[in-house]
Amino acid sequence: MATQPSLGAEAPISHTVSREDYEYVWPLPPRRRPPLKDYSAESLREYLATAPLDEVDIADPMYWETDTHWTFFKRLRDEAPVHFTGVNANRHRGYWSVTRWADIMAVDTNHQIFSSDAHLGGITLFDMDQDFIMPMFIAMDQPKHDVQRKAVNPIVSGSNLQAFEALIRSRTQEVLDGLPRGEEFDWVDRVSIELTSRMLATLFDFPQEHRRKLTWWSDIATADPEVPGNLQKEERQAALLGMLQEFMGLWNDRVNDPEPKGDLISMLAHNPATRNMPPMEFMGNLVLLIVGGNDTTRNSITGGLKFLNDNPAEYAKLRANHGLIEPMVSEIIRYQTPLAHMRRTALEDTILGGQHIAKGDKVVMWYASGNRDERAIENPDAFIIDRPRARQHMSFGFGIHRCVGNRLAELQLKILWEEILARFDNIEVVSEPERVPSAFVKGYKSLMVRIPA
Ligand code: HEM
Repeated sequence: MATQPSLGAEAPISHTVSREDYEYVWPLPPRRRPPLKDYSAESLREYLATAPLDEVDIADPMYWETDTHWTFFKRLRDEAPVHFTGVNANRHRGYWSVTRWADIMAVDTNHQIFSSDAHLGGITLFDMDQDFIMPMFIAMDQPKHDVQRKAVNPIVSGSNLQAFEALIRSRTQEVLDGLPRGEEFDWVDRVSIELTSRMLATLFDFPQEHRRKLTWWSDIATADPEVPGNLQKEERQAALLGMLQEFMGLWNDRVNDPEPKGDLISMLAHNPATRNMPPMEFMGNLVLLIVGGNDTTRNSITGGLKFLNDNPAEYAKLRANHGLIEPMVSEIIRYQTPLAHMRRTALEDTILGGQHIAKGDKVVMWYASGNRDERAIENPDAFIIDRPRARQHMSFGFGIHRCVGNRLAELQLKILWEEILARFDNIEVVSEPERVPSAFVKGYKSLMVRIPA
């Protein structure tokens, strides 16, 4: 494995509780899931409609790759809204699924009890590798979280967003004008990845010609190592260390500037709260910002086109009234829910939805389910572009970790749809998308489309 480049003195990493307090062994039987190829989406749907709730590990990537998880979440919301999965979940050492809107809110807004700390496993169902901890402010508790969040917040201030608008628009125009007519192409590659990687390179002032590296790092940082074809642990760690090395060069360029510039690296290198970060913490925050600015917006760009094709009456409504773009953007983000879950670790025994949660338990807030909770959202399974109170969704989370980049993501999507409607009467989806096998990043590998000649 590559050695870590040095970035100032190693500072002690602060965290509220020691790992030992939380170590426990769950006596789980071996996993019983047959390999993905043995299942069709149809058979999985049938299975999930009737299988005993305790038997199913809904975090299994096969349910996300096949988009078959919906009925099971409805069953959980109705029958067992705070539910422990132990059997078959041994790779996650057992976890609580929280599936109703109100219970998810209760967890997300109670950071005193529900911790995000990387040393307890962090914010995804997968525990962060304890021999390769990447502290990042999304996986920190107070007070350090707030201090670091404030260091990068200016990148998405109102005035910065205004300044970005013209650039986002001209790039969007360029990308859309370069699309082929009358032939099939992959929307994910040509549009979703292209636009988000260009944006991210701007945020970091990273060389535009190497922007696809950002997509690659983002994808490997979130990939499920058990899915065939994904990088194994050591390969993944080596790739992330390579990323660190490359960003160290940018850091070293900027740290000696007399004044901070407007990009994220410069902000981190000059802010007293972050300028002495240990290398692993710099890497952690890079991963956070790269994944935050990349996968999520990318999958909303793809999802939007798919949803409009699946709902031609909504597409017609949009063509007739471009004023619906703004509420539609929020509806796309709700309907897609690009991050299917965030996870917390209980810092003390507590009661949630009538269930006893023990100190150290993993608690998973399934935003993908909360966004379809009939108790909070009317007709939640329908995609309705002029939905009243469209911004009432949980895709950006709530509480102290609520998404930093939400306004930027909305702006990118709004401009994209304005520019699409200005040039194309129709973009046809020609086949079912290929989906990402992950219970965390809920998205698409490819979506084949055609713009009529
Ligand atoms: C946090 C979703 C776009 C940067 C989050 C969280 C979610 C989320 C669910 C965690 C919330 C919680 O734990 O309560 C999304 C979605 C996006 C998006 C759905 C697009 C549609 C972006 C963009 C950026 C970004 C464009 C960067 C420019 C961040 C950061 C955090 C975060 C830095 C950590 C905030 C903290 O811990 O205080 N996002 N995000 N996100 N997001 Fe986003």
